Amino acid sequence: MSMKSKKPILLVSGLGLLMVILLVVFSFYSDSKEAETKNYLGPAGIPVSREMRAELTAPPNVPGPTGRRKAKKLIVDMEVLEQEGVMSDGVKYIYWTFGGSVPGSFIRSKIGDEVEFHLKNHPDNKLPHNIDLHAVTGPGGGATSSFVAPGHETQFSFKVLNPGLYVYHCATAPVGMHIANGMYGLILVEPEEGLPEVDKEYYIMQGDFYTKGENGERGLQPFDMKKAVDEDADYVVFNGKVGSLTGDNAITANVGETVRLYVGNGGPNLVSSFHVIGEIFDRVRVEGGDFINNNVQTTLIPAGGAAIVEFKVDVPGTFILVDHSIFRAFNKGALGMLKVQGDENKKIYSGKQEEGVYQPEGSGIQEMPVDNDLVQVNKTATSLKEKMEFGKATYMRTCFACHQAEGQGIPNAFPPLAKSDYLNADLERAIDIVLHGKTGEITVNGKKYNSVMTKQDITDEEVANVLTYIYNSWGNSKKEVTQAMVTSRRNVH
Ligand code: CU
Repeated sequence: MSMKSKKPILLVSGLGLLMVILLVVFSFYSDSKEAETKNYLGPAGIPVSREMRAELTAPPNVPGPTGRRKAKKLIVDMEVLEQEGVMSDGVKYIYWTFGGSVPGSFIRSKIGDEVEFHLKNHPDNKLPHNIDLHAVTGPGGGATSSFVAPGHETQFSFKVLNPGLYVYHCATAPVGMHIANGMYGLILVEPEEGLPEVDKEYYIMQGDFYTKGENGERGLQPFDMKKAVDEDADYVVFNGKVGSLTGDNAITANVGETVRLYVGNGGPNLVSSFHVIGEIFDRVRVEGGDFINNNVQTTLIPAGGAAIVEFKVDVPGTFILVDHSIFRAFNKGALGMLKVQGDENKKIYSGKQEEGVYQPEGSGIQEMPVDNDLVQVNKTATSLKEKMEFGKATYMRTCFACHQAEGQGIPNAFPPLAKSDYLNADLERAIDIVLHGKTGEITVNGKKYNSVMTKQDITDEEVANVLTYIYNSWGNSKKEVTQAMVTSRRNVH
């Protein structure tokens, strides 16, 4: 080979080398630029790559760890569902939920994630809702951007800037009532490196409930505003109901495993003295933040706050989770179980383990009631008596959460229907409101109300029956509403 033919090869490989060097220099430069931006802006400067759909779980389960994944655009799809559930044996309650469970779906994110939040209000729901996430930096924690009527969806985005465990809740007026009906949950923001690995993770949230009947009184129980204002709870429970974590619903672990509990407190009123009988928390991330306390017996969880507790289970048996304000545990429901299986270790604990020692006293096992008021009937009413009967069934399904069992309403929130001058003054207006909804200020019996009533998705016959029931109850003017009257109003607007 001559010298002439070698020159271009040298030139090409020289150019190639130069490009490699330039690329390396450039990537160092852009890396340091990225790091600079990040340092300057803090977590707000963390870039996001790609997008992913958030895994959402119902309690007591939590989504898988974020591990070492980078910050992403995280899409959260949350549906609000108002639905009847069981508070305790024989006691039913209409829960308002994020995702169909109390507490609502667990959201797991990573610091720097850009969360694109979709809040959907199911068309069968009666009320508007929104969401305030304590992990949000911004007005209302998202509440001002997420107000959504039944049958609608809203969207807003936020960047998670602070690691920790945060409560979210509905913040629609009356806020206390929305929270008291179960509208709360937890969002975890993991640090860049993720949380240390553990063997078992569970999601537990305490809440206090206020019912018209006393603890254990059977049937469908409406929310009681006065008791809520007085902070006189009938039920204090983990995960929305008595017995959500006992018996077959107990959480489990094996001897030698490390358990991490994400514990929140939705309130609305009470703070929790969270304790596990027979265990010591090896680590508590106090109030869900960075501070780690070791060797803790009972940790205080404020209403609207959370804690992460971790402990290794050394011996088998049933460990009882309580709010150590102890009447709440044994008389109001704040009691759960962690069942640990494995070999005994007599050096650590010699005694005999027994199950079923602790049973809630306040809501003993009762037979399921047959609630004739709520039996669905697919037949047309032929008499006033039947209209009243069917109308009451519709009322109990559709109206009573706000207007209450005796039509008394809720002071400063929902107007009364009992002896209501507003109702009795104008029948057509009443039909229109049921059919088309109502917003804005009205005056009922001399008091001003400014709440939202959404249009009710029920048939004309049901509207006729329910209004007949209302007009013929609680001292009202005894008008009878026919299906034809409702149908003629349906197309007016
Ligand atoms: Cu709500």
